[in-house]
Amino acid sequence: MRFLTYEYQQTCGVDSQQLTAISSDLAPCIEELAAAVSGSGHEQYAFAHMPQDQEHRAACKKMIAAKKALNPKALVVIGIGGSNLGTLAVHELLHGTLYNESNPPIRIYCADTVDSDYIHAIYLRLEQELEKGNTILLNIISKSGSTTETIANAEVFLALLRKYHPADFHEYVVVTTDQGSALWLLAEKERFALLAIPKKLGGRYSVLSCVGLFPLGMIGVDIEKLCEGAISMNALCVQQQDNPAVIGAAINYALYQKNIPIHDTFIFSVDGQSLGKWYRQLMGESLGKELSKDGKRNPVGIVPTVSLGSTDLHSVGQLYLGGPVRHFTTFITIEQLNSDLQVPVFENFEALVADIQGKPLRTIMHAIEIGIKAAYKKNERPFVSLVFPAKSAYYVGQFLQLKMFEIVYLGYLLGVDPFDQPNVELYKQETRKILSQ
Ligand code: PA5
Repeated sequence: MRFLTYEYQQTCGVDSQQLTAISSDLAPCIEELAAAVSGSGHEQYAFAHMPQDQEHRAACKKMIAAKKALNPKALVVIGIGGSNLGTLAVHELLHGTLYNESNPPIRIYCADTVDSDYIHAIYLRLEQELEKGNTILLNIISKSGSTTETIANAEVFLALLRKYHPADFHEYVVVTTDQGSALWLLAEKERFALLAIPKKLGGRYSVLSCVGLFPLGMIGVDIEKLCEGAISMNALCVQQQDNPAVIGAAINYALYQKNIPIHDTFIFSVDGQSLGKWYRQLMGESLGKELSKDGKRNPVGIVPTVSLGSTDLHSVGQLYLGGPVRHFTTFITIEQLNSDLQVPVFENFEALVADIQGKPLRTIMHAIEIGIKAAYKKNERPFVSLVFPAKSAYYVGQFLQLKMFEIVYLGYLLGVDPFDQPNVELYKQETRKILSQ
């Protein structure tokens, strides 16, 4: 197996001396993470050891086998933020965004926000299955066990399930939460199956725990390979030299110091867009913090954005190439695709666009990928390139782990705690106030 290819030297806009200096500041943090990988101490870095936890994975696999035996035709992942973004990212990259339309053994629906029309559309599809006498499975995921959107959606779908399975609806529910949370206690009372999220594992760092492994395993993702990929990245991400996570963090940090506060993940794959959204949450929620300095508020943070290639070259390409240089870009491309569609040869069309007749779409896409990087270079827009050898569980496991390490290193450099999200509480409190009126 190979590694993701990471290229940065000629294009990242930071010289190697500066990168070395910043990287050496990270030495103590690297040591702590190395200890966490080996499973000793430093519990706040629980994500680093997670893919190696065989016992935890075995519990997920046991639950997957038990619930697959019920032969569900649809799985509803009810969770939000760190509780569903990782699952969606891995699923879409590996199965494609049109997966549900390809008549798979188990369809998957993600119920996150409380958009009535969207939730209703899922509800109707599930009801159709239940009407046909088929079964469905609900996976309610909430670390805190008290997130408004998740609990509201869970209640909606539980009521539907109970309508069709009045006596044994509890069989079709798996609750993933912290042991002892209010949701845990309720699940025990209702006899729902339970998966415990490791206590020290933060929501947005939990994709390689039961939060992601259970739903992904249910829809056929090779969770062993996913974790193997992550483990292979562990070794690289705790070495003192040539550490891709440290280099990534150092580049982001150096550019942030140069007043480049935006990090755009530019993905040349429709199926990869959700991977960009997973990273957006990881970066945004982990690093956007309010520090106080000399009694004054000191907001810190890098703004993560996601762009889709080549679609967004026709929306924000002009801004990125001509506008102010406030963004640093990570281009993500996939080397080996799963299909080989070609443009047919229609003579009359040659006059419209030259040199595409008879060419594979991937060749055209590749030309655009090279073309945009050449343009960024000419216009001095800093970027790095990350290449997936293929869309496989192993490489996506590498990516997830690499990025979690990168964000923790970046948090250390910025002087923020990458595991909390104190300001999000504010909107939750305000919402609760309004709902209680
Ligand atoms: O990363 C985080 O901690 C958050 O994004 C949470 O995952 C999100 O707010 C959902 O929280 P919970 O899993 O407690 O329902």
